[in-house]
Amino acid sequence: PLNELAKTPQMGWNNWNSFGCDVDEELLISATEKISQYGLRDAGYQYIVLDDCWSNGRSSNGTLQANTTRFPNGMAEVADRIHKEGFKFGMYSSAGTSTCARYAGSLNYEHQDAQTFAGWGVDYLKYDNCYNEGQSGSPLITYERYKKMSDALNSTGRPILYSMCNWGEDYPWKWAQTVANSWRISGDIYDSFNRPDARCPCSGNEEYNCALAGFHCSAMNILNKVSHYTDKGVPHAWNDLDALEVGNGGMTDDEYKTHFTMWAAVKSALLMGNDLDRLSARDLSILNNPAIIALNQDPRGTSAVRVWRHDVDDVDRYGQGEIQMWSGQLSGGDYFVALLNAGNGSREMNAMADDIFYDAGAEGTSEESTMEWTIHDLWANRMPEDVAQALIDGNSTQAASLNVTSYYFNATETS
Ligand code: GLA
Repeated sequence: PLNELAKTPQMGWNNWNSFGCDVDEELLISATEKISQYGLRDAGYQYIVLDDCWSNGRSSNGTLQANTTRFPNGMAEVADRIHKEGFKFGMYSSAGTSTCARYAGSLNYEHQDAQTFAGWGVDYLKYDNCYNEGQSGSPLITYERYKKMSDALNSTGRPILYSMCNWGEDYPWKWAQTVANSWRISGDIYDSFNRPDARCPCSGNEEYNCALAGFHCSAMNILNKVSHYTDKGVPHAWNDLDALEVGNGGMTDDEYKTHFTMWAAVKSALLMGNDLDRLSARDLSILNNPAIIALNQDPRGTSAVRVWRHDVDDVDRYGQGEIQMWSGQLSGGDYFVALLNAGNGSREMNAMADDIFYDAGAEGTSEESTMEWTIHDLWANRMPEDVAQALIDGNSTQAASLNVTSYYFNATETS
């Protein structure tokens, strides 16, 4: 691997999905406070990642400078405050002459910028792909461009998690395991479970090369795309399905649960993309579900695999409808199983032993299929809404009585 970071997928918060360019140091500090207060830091959300639009260009000697209106105390001070709250600090730049929002990019400034970031106390770099001067279109060209920053970060001597954001262009899952700690696989997510977008035509057999640069990928677009590359994520180097939309209002509760569960199951980086001041108790009790977080952070680091998918007739208002079955190996001989209903109605679905243990040979010959299993519903013990609300309200008496372990793997049933 590139380094010792991200042994399990990185977790944290990124401002882009909810705030775009409307970002300043108070937003980041307030995010650290809310994430701690809501119990999410202790649940594992560790990185506070600043996205685009923070910059004020370069000084006369070429050093990147922060916008002093948005960051009056300077980045080193912001990093310091974030560290004092018990978090790590993520920064953003682009492997191009400009970032996507047209601020200074790091192409040809890799070493200087890596030194600047390390000097500020940065622990994480999200590295975008805009304005790359045509240095793309083949894996080798893209590899070399992203490797430059990888080497530059390494040579600072500071551990900096390196998160490539080249939208799946030039097949990063084929070559980025030694270059980065994660790579985006698609264009940008938007807050819809299933609404297709002309620029993200990901369905059926088009899955392989869909959802490239361009925007508006639904959760199902991105999930279907990663289903072909689930074996490519390994400890220290993960597929990144883009930041979570949980809490942003565009999906139902079931859809957000599915979005979060599947991001966790395929070992995606888990970056919240919400406005923490507007997070509902319900959405908090999705993001803090310890069973789903444990699934994502399982030490074995093996992604779940899509075993089958079928179109169904009861399509939704966008003409979409399908069902899928996923299975994944966990540490200690455990298995993860998901029956994903992306149709429009409720239905009975079956997971057969030879599907669940697809990797263990035919049913009857595999040891697993004749064993006795204890089944845990990972959503059965979701935090009750009043407890989640107490956390949001900062009601410390009620929140203090909160015992997170009591929401962990509790509901069981033996078969
Ligand atoms: C690209 C990235 C997004 C975000 C924006 C910022 O679209 O894919 O995640 O960083 O740029 O401009």
